[in-house]
Amino acid sequence: MKIIQKLCLIVCTVILVNCTTAEIPLVDQNPVNRTVTYTQDIQPIILGNCLTCHSSVNPRNGLILETYEQVRNSSETGTLIPRINDAANPMPQSGLLTADRRALFDQWRAGGYIE
Ligand code: HEC
Repeated sequence: MKIIQKLCLIVCTVILVNCTTAEIPLVDQNPVNRTVTYTQDIQPIILGNCLTCHSSVNPRNGLILETYEQVRNSSETGTLIPRINDAANPMPQSGLLTADRRALFDQWRAGGYIE
């Protein structure tokens, strides 16, 4: 192979790889196309973002989110899902969770709150 052909091949490969990489969507789960469960998806988000204020030790607004039943109850009959999506008055108060995380709650609800 002539050197110019080799060079061309390298350049083309680099361009191709770069383009391909750019087109791979980021780890974007929005919308979520899989089964979402409390144990796998929801509980870790609650643990990391809510329990500082919603555990049985001094629960804000009396809302405790320690168990599956409590989180399900607040999601199903309470205001948990509207509040995590409320840009003007979000939970957690520090700001909206990422869209991917909020989408997990939507998919959890759509799937019937699987534990
Ligand atoms: C820094 C403390 C803090 C954190 C963290 C926090 N909350 Fe709250 N939360 C509050 C306070 C204070 C209220 C009551 C005032 C209000 O409604 O804004 C409240 C109210 C709520 C309410 C409405 C009241 C009710 O009883 O249903 C929901 C639902 C809620 N929080 C869910 C969550 C969820 C879900 C998370 C995590 C994603 C979270 N909160 C994180 C402090 C917090």
